[in-house]
Amino acid sequence: MPYRLTIEPSGHEMDCDSDETILEAALRHGFNIPYSCRNGTCATCKGRILSGTVDYGDIEEKVLSEAEKVDGLALFCQAIPLSDLKIEVREIGAAKDIQIKTLPARVAKIEDVAPDVRALFLKIPSTERLQFLPGQYIDILLKDGARRGFSLANTPNDDALLELHIKKVEGGAFTGHVFSAMKEKDIVRFEGPLGTFFVRQESTRPLLMVATGTGFAPIKGMLESLFAQGSIRPIHFYWGVRHSEDFYYEDLLQEWQSLHSHFNLTKIVSQPDSHWSGPTGYVTEQVIKDFPDASAFDAYICGHPDMVFSLSAALAQAGLDSEHIFADAFVFAK
Ligand code: FES
Repeated sequence: MPYRLTIEPSGHEMDCDSDETILEAALRHGFNIPYSCRNGTCATCKGRILSGTVDYGDIEEKVLSEAEKVDGLALFCQAIPLSDLKIEVREIGAAKDIQIKTLPARVAKIEDVAPDVRALFLKIPSTERLQFLPGQYIDILLKDGARRGFSLANTPNDDALLELHIKKVEGGAFTGHVFSAMKEKDIVRFEGPLGTFFVRQESTRPLLMVATGTGFAPIKGMLESLFAQGSIRPIHFYWGVRHSEDFYYEDLLQEWQSLHSHFNLTKIVSQPDSHWSGPTGYVTEQVIKDFPDASAFDAYICGHPDMVFSLSAALAQAGLDSEHIFADAFVFAK
């Protein structure tokens, strides 16, 4: 039977299985507490047990001493509950709390998900873990010193592989390589996590999430994390593409719709063909048509700068204060 785990001072509560570490439980429920190695060597996850008992795991004295255990400390990446627990740890709520790393990664899997979109799954060395907030991105470092930024589409809980959605760009030095020559087991280098595009947890406002094209990637991570937390904030997600075949992850979208009644999805196509019977046009017009008064929302927008700027301006016109608009504008990385 799972134990009850409470994180203070946030008061977040969740279950924690008897064979699961405290860190695993927190991440599984979408709550980000500090970690780095996840194998008991770096001490980044060290925190205080306020009440309850744990199995500390097999930890070297220099990482967690007996005196520290007596003082109530534990490594949350190793400690397993033996009772209901209350712990004290500051949840990560800002990008500045996260260490930016430069790491190699091996291409573990490449999947064609839409005619011009590939999902790239990267495996980092087993001695490393990448802490990040859903919605952040990494920069792929090219040999000539150039960089290409891509959002992380997976959640911190599901971090065995880092998931990127790559849009093919004609003549693109990196994306051209991804679509022509890249193969499994290739090695890339990256820096990350980067960016401040992540859901502000302190807010309880309904969410308006808008993506065009592969701007879906960070929104996917954000949504999966919100669902894992059991958040009941109403979510209106608009996804705009040029052609209906540009949508991908159809099964996942349907699963979200069937499991989460507070999740509303609108897919919109700007250049429809005869197969498309849904809304047509641009997301900016559709959002404003649906919400002429947008003042109550927190808006998260990811896509081409033209869309991001026009929608941000339209939302401001519709009464949404700029402090509630969070955006990640990108031109497709070449
Ligand atoms: Fe490194 Fe726990 S000791 S994350």
